[in-house]
Amino acid sequence: MNQNVFSKVDHYSRELLNHTASQLYEIEKTMDSLGIPDMSVSPNQGQFLHILAKAINAKRILEIGTFGAYSAIYLAKALPEDGKLISLEIDPFYAEIAKSNITKAGLSHKIEIMLGPALLSLIKLSGEKNPSFDMIFLDADKPNYPNYLDWIMKLCKPGTLIISDNVVREGEVIDPDTADEKVRGVRKFIQGLSQENRLTSTIIQTVSVKGYDGMAISIAG
Ligand code: SAH
Ligand code: DHB
Ligand code: MG
Repeated sequence: MNQNVFSKVDHYSRELLNHTASQLYEIEKTMDSLGIPDMSVSPNQGQFLHILAKAINAKRILEIGTFGAYSAIYLAKALPEDGKLISLEIDPFYAEIAKSNITKAGLSHKIEIMLGPALLSLIKLSGEKNPSFDMIFLDADKPNYPNYLDWIMKLCKPGTLIISDNVVREGEVIDPDTADEKVRGVRKFIQGLSQENRLTSTIIQTVSVKGYDGMAISIAG
């Protein structure tokens, strides 16, 4: 098994099953041409998020880390017309790209981007009247994952589905001596999940066009 096979199977699945991917092809091409890091979820991971959101009949979704809104678009497409996805982004340039992509996808009415450090936006959100979400997608700066978990716990209710991206990192997550701040953040986050008795969690490892990584999946009970 190697990356070449993983990519080919990912393309096979995308071509046959992922019709949203072809609609988003222009957006993907534009993002590639901008010379910014490729941090979006893969098309099939986007489809997976979409299926999860549909499966739980999500009406309010929180995303931490918007980037170009690629994952946001897949998630928002699963929402009913009056559903809402709130996505948090610190970088004004990425937020502008996201807004343009969201408009192109015809989803402006369902997606709200909150610009600024996510920890500040989370404080703001938790002060609102009905702050809880049906689904939360955590995908921002990895060293802050443990801090995000504290806020996620304030913003979830029984049944909230929490998906956290990039927690396997080519298997580095099992190295207790790692010097990588991202891996250290993720390890502390997974430790936090393990101690959170309101959550049932697992890690799903993935191979894809993006290499070997994985998502943590948790449900609040
Ligand atoms: N979810 C996106 C990818 C997100 S990449 C997708 O799959 O399409 C991670 C994003 O988190 C980047 O856009 C980065 O600017 C943003 N980010 C990093 N630190 C942040 C912070 N402290 N607050 C909010 N966003 C942050
Ligand atoms: C990075 C962040 C992501 O969320 C991702 O999926 C891939 C890479 C990064 O910070 O490099
Ligand atoms: Mg990610």
